[in-house]
Amino acid sequence: MYFSQKKVLITGASSGIGEALAYAFAEQNATVLLCARNETELLRVKAAIKAPCEIFVCDITNYQAVDLMILDIVSKYDTIDVLVNNAGMSQRGLAYETDFKVDERILNLNYLAPVYLTKKVLPLMISRNKGNIIVITSLSGKFGFWQRSAYAASKHALHGFFETLQIELKSHHINTLLVCPGGVKTNISKNALEKDGTPHNKMEELQSKGITPASLAGKILKASANGKKQILVGKAEVYLYYIKKWFPWLFFKLVEGLNGR
Ligand SMILES: NC(=O)c1ccc[n+]([C@@H]2O[C@H](COP(=O)([O-])OP(=O)(O)OC[C@H]3O[C@@H](n4cnc5c(N)ncnc54)[C@H](OP(=O)(O)O)[C@@H]3O)[C@@H](O)[C@H]2O)c1
Repeated sequence: MYFSQKKVLITGASSGIGEALAYAFAEQNATVLLCARNETELLRVKAAIKAPCEIFVCDITNYQAVDLMILDIVSKYDTIDVLVNNAGMSQRGLAYETDFKVDERILNLNYLAPVYLTKKVLPLMISRNKGNIIVITSLSGKFGFWQRSAYAASKHALHGFFETLQIELKSHHINTLLVCPGGVKTNISKNALEKDGTPHNKMEELQSKGITPASLAGKILKASANGKKQILVGKAEVYLYYIKKWFPWLFFKLVEGLNGR
């Protein structure tokens, strides 16, 4: 098993996709290092894991806290073999109505925080000439969509940064995988920010009828172990990526027609 004995740091491991990834890595007997803000939820996930596991309560937008977390991990585990940049937050609100503070929050969490964390972890990987980085972006990193201007921008930005790393890190044998899911059955739409920054608090159909986090996690581990650079995973919504690529006029016709839903 490719990830056996590897030290895997997962952000956003207290729920949804991060939680499912924690279980999938633990199944391969990796050492699973779980990061998120909610200690109770992290302990719940840890309790379900049989492999070596530790929780790190950390807000990844707090760079000082991230520095301390990395120092703590290195002092205990020596290195990080696999970094999973998963923590993130969505939004629901038309761009021209959305408070700029929402744009800042989303960009800070979804883009700047993973960039900061990756820059802290990379020296550990470069010095050993190996490592795996996994970045959970979104189909929204491939095209704009109603009510998700900051979210789509943050996910597009991840592609710009991490595709550059894919080029720069080849000689260091560090694989970077960009994961672009469509709808996944998690609480992401409930936790999404409204135009005024309050929680959206609704489970939407894209999520309730989406693929399961466990099935996505299985595909992610396989793709990373096989050195893949990008995967698109989901149901019919994945076709929008190909439609935009080959028939952009049709993409805009279809998506504009959704009228904010
Ligand atoms: N579900 C989907 O349909 C879907 C589709 C495409 C992409 N994605 C992406 O998948 C990733 C995971 O989302 P999910 O669907 O699993 O949603 P989720 O259940 O809401 O999980 C989000 C995770 O991020 C953590 N988090 C939020 N703010 C944080 C912070 N400041 N510091 C540390 N951790 C933080 C949350 O934990 P705490 O609250 O405990 O901090 C939680 O564990 C996101 O990047 C999302 O954009 C999801």
